[in-house]
Amino acid sequence: MPLSPSTGAQYARILGIGAAIPSRVVDNEEMCTYIDSSDEWIQQRTGIVERRWVAEGETVESLSLDAARQAIDRAGLAGADIDAVIVSTVSHMLQTPSLAAHIAAELGTDGAAAYDISAACAGFCYGLAQADALVRSGAATHVVVIGAETLSRITDLSDRSTAFLFADGAGAAVVGPSDTPAMGPVVWGSDGDQYDVINMTKPWPEALQAGENSNIFMEGRAVFRWATGFIASAAQECLDAAGVTAEELDVFIPHQANNRITDSMLRHLTLPDTVKVARTIKHYGNNSAASIPIAIDAMLASGEAKSGDLALIIGFGAGLVYAGQVVQLP
Ligand SMILES: CC(C)(COP(=O)(O)OP(=O)(O)OC[C@H]1O[C@@H](n2cnc3c(N)ncnc32)[C@H](O)[C@@H]1OP(=O)(O)O)[C@@H](O)C(=O)NCCC(=O)NCCS
Repeated sequence: MPLSPSTGAQYARILGIGAAIPSRVVDNEEMCTYIDSSDEWIQQRTGIVERRWVAEGETVESLSLDAARQAIDRAGLAGADIDAVIVSTVSHMLQTPSLAAHIAAELGTDGAAAYDISAACAGFCYGLAQADALVRSGAATHVVVIGAETLSRITDLSDRSTAFLFADGAGAAVVGPSDTPAMGPVVWGSDGDQYDVINMTKPWPEALQAGENSNIFMEGRAVFRWATGFIASAAQECLDAAGVTAEELDVFIPHQANNRITDSMLRHLTLPDTVKVARTIKHYGNNSAASIPIAIDAMLASGEAKSGDLALIIGFGAGLVYAGQVVQLP
């Protein structure tokens, strides 16, 4: 008996974007009550003036839901139209079941496929690549991709090499069929030789046995070198793969890791002054998988970016892993 393969849309696009910003503002002055640092040092090294942390009642689940509902609404869809939910997070504290399965039920999907991915700060771009493939293969018609983190729960507030950097938040995108090309090929990969450059202090069972939390630690200089060298080149590859020149680009949205990394990438890419560059780290900090969709949402809301613009997005982080693509903004 012949087998019928799945067939999908010719192209996929982002149909809607949503974001959820936690309510607690932690400025550098408050940060300096936890670590020996200064507002001047933090701003000069990272560009961060303040970051957002979850307040009482806010969780990685609630942020994910708020962002996803907004994205679905803006796409002109309802929960029942969604047939796959992908959540990228390192902050969901259960190994199983997935956060995505819970979110799929809360969104009112009709039993959508649901799974989490662990790709740290590259997670949103990994999720978009999968959504693009699912829609074009016919495995799904409308996919919600969520990047959500509550890194404040796994950050050691006495560690002066990480405490000032990490933050909380969620962003989401709905990806669906398109008549015209609107998502370039993903450029992605990993460098597991640098597995320990960003890692957790202990596996959870060991940490709990010792009465401790397991927190993120980072070799900042190694991350900085990798991001400003290899990742800057990967960003150029994203443009080349999509057949888009620097002059044709409207917006550049790198993962909001650190403003100095963004500055270094800009020097490498030699983008024209007309290209708008995301700098949401200033008020939101580094919220990992959430940083790119939050930046897209903020730039669309402020008018810095507009619907139809071509944006280069690229995420990179623990693994080490990275992923980027050129997308047309909804
Ligand atoms: C984290 C980072 C800002 C630290 O900056 P750095 O210049 O590498 O810092 P170093 O650890 O080498 O320390 C340099 C100096 O700053 C001091 N310092 C370190 N942390 C400090 C802090 N929180 N506040 C004030 N001073 C600090 C050190 O004591 C040292 O002082 P010295 O020169 O008198 O000895 C930088 O490495 C970085 O941006 N890395 C990339 C990290 C990143 O983006 N991660 C996200 C990945 S998703």
